[in-house]
Amino acid sequence: MTNNQKNELIETAIKMTAASYAPYSHFHVGAALLAKDGTVFTGCNIENAAYGPSNCAERTAIFKAVSEGVRSFEAIAIAGGAENEKGEPVIKDFCPPCGVCRQVMSEFCGKDFKIILTDGNGGIKEFTLAELLPESFNLI
Ligand code: THU
Repeated sequence: MTNNQKNELIETAIKMTAASYAPYSHFHVGAALLAKDGTVFTGCNIENAAYGPSNCAERTAIFKAVSEGVRSFEAIAIAGGAENEKGEPVIKDFCPPCGVCRQVMSEFCGKDFKIILTDGNGGIKEFTLAELLPESFNLI
């Protein structure tokens, strides 16, 4: 991944927070997933009145890619933050992926898969999947 690709991925994740449907938590998350073939799949969190059917931004992006026949991934950028009084997302801090999303990543992504977090203000944290989900459960 070039530095340009990384910066674009981060910008796309930030932009995707605008698509988030979060009328219950008021917390908006965007994700941009880079496939090994260079394609970028986007995602946002999509909540539901019954809460349980809600989907995180990361899984939205991964499921979009897998449903399009793409299963080889290099990196994901994630941005998230609570909304302001106008209902707009404000990114002030890093938004690490939840445990469920880490497990879904481990189904399709290798240990070296990169997880890139932004604080919306130029700050970047980067982890491998192995760092965020050590000793993961896998059957294949
Ligand atoms: N959320 C994500 O989209 N990704 C994460 O990794 C953490 C949480 C969403 C789920 C829910 O819609 C909202 O953020 C608050 O938990």
